[in-house]
Amino acid sequence: MRILVVEDEMISRLKLEAIMQKFGRCETAENGSQAVHMYQKAMVQGNAYRLVMLDIEMPDMKGPQVLRQIRLIEAARDHRAAVIMVTAQLSQTLVVSCIQDGCDDYIAKPFNINIIRDKLLKLGLIGGHGENDAGRSKPKSTSAENIFNRINELLRSGELALPPMPQIGIRFREMVRDGADMDKMAGLLKKDVVIASKIIRLSNSASYRGFGKIHSLERAIGRLGLAETEKLVMALSNQKLFMAENHLYRKMLEDLWLHSLACAFAAEALTDTLELNMAVDAFTAGLFHDIGAFALIHVIVELENLGHYDKLLDLEAINETVQVYHKIFGAKLLEKWAFDSEYRQIALCHNNLDIAESITPEICVVHLGNLVAKSLGYIGCGGKQTIELMQTPSAQTLQLTGDQIDSLRKAVQSQMALVEQLLD
Ligand SMILES: [Fe+2]
Repeated sequence: MRILVVEDEMISRLKLEAIMQKFGRCETAENGSQAVHMYQKAMVQGNAYRLVMLDIEMPDMKGPQVLRQIRLIEAARDHRAAVIMVTAQLSQTLVVSCIQDGCDDYIAKPFNINIIRDKLLKLGLIGGHGENDAGRSKPKSTSAENIFNRINELLRSGELALPPMPQIGIRFREMVRDGADMDKMAGLLKKDVVIASKIIRLSNSASYRGFGKIHSLERAIGRLGLAETEKLVMALSNQKLFMAENHLYRKMLEDLWLHSLACAFAAEALTDTLELNMAVDAFTAGLFHDIGAFALIHVIVELENLGHYDKLLDLEAINETVQVYHKIFGAKLLEKWAFDSEYRQIALCHNNLDIAESITPEICVVHLGNLVAKSLGYIGCGGKQTIELMQTPSAQTLQLTGDQIDSLRKAVQSQMALVEQLLD
């Protein structure tokens, strides 16, 4: 929004200008006649001011007079700026007469940014998030429901695409299952320099270090073992896919990635401890249980890049969208990626067993894995909560003992410590 600050006194003008710049593109006038001239010119050029901050007490033309001129200029065109009068002393009579002349509101000196923000909010000039509304033409609704509907609309029309599956992780997993030879597996990983170098680096870390330093991927896989390498490749390819350029989302995605990994480790450890015979791979199910949250953020970043929201989305709206819709979105995405229905059920019910068609061990291990991750501080997209793991329906269904839960938490903690070594 284009803003005109009219103030004769230099310090006040600078102060007001500094504040108003937070809400839009701000220009200043030192006196009334300059203000009227600037206002008229902007109208003629078709780039009218949307807000005028107008000092009442000025030497040549007084504020009320400028206000009347502005309203006269506007009368000829279909435009009306909001005018906020700024006054040193709050005089009831003066304010009443300014309102009669057509001002929208007033503020008394001394003021601060919060007072101004409240006024702008009241006048509908800014949204709930306030600042940085510069250049905004039409505020668009950013409620979770709207964001989600918009995403669905664009996915249906083909304007947006769902993120691709992290191919390298899935492919590596298939190779291990098919008993492919080491050369082939190393060949696949070499296509991704980041993953390959991290695997080599980890094989030389304190936790794995053997005799001599390893430089080749084949030997690194040999030292880590296939099972460990497979998990790392899955985790790393997943991380790479959902890295955001935008720093606002980077932290959110990194938290989600760590949460998903901790859940994956927990689900796998639970499956091993209880010797469960599962219809899903527990690690993959854990790793993908919140895939909808990753995908939603990815798509929202894409929407912003395409200019659909004038970069207006705030983190609160995004968080709400993610929390409310990530399960359904995740199930949809896993369907597109051709995952079996068990994986989709897990994505849908991982934090609410009440909505599960039936409570299976597959859902229980991820449900509990999700909570174990949160209890260790890997909270992902939900808020912090105190969790009594023993009391959860999944722990009870799986008939876990307190000792088993304790050692599960310890196992996940040490796996996560390893992973954190891989973080740059
Ligand atoms: Fe989760």
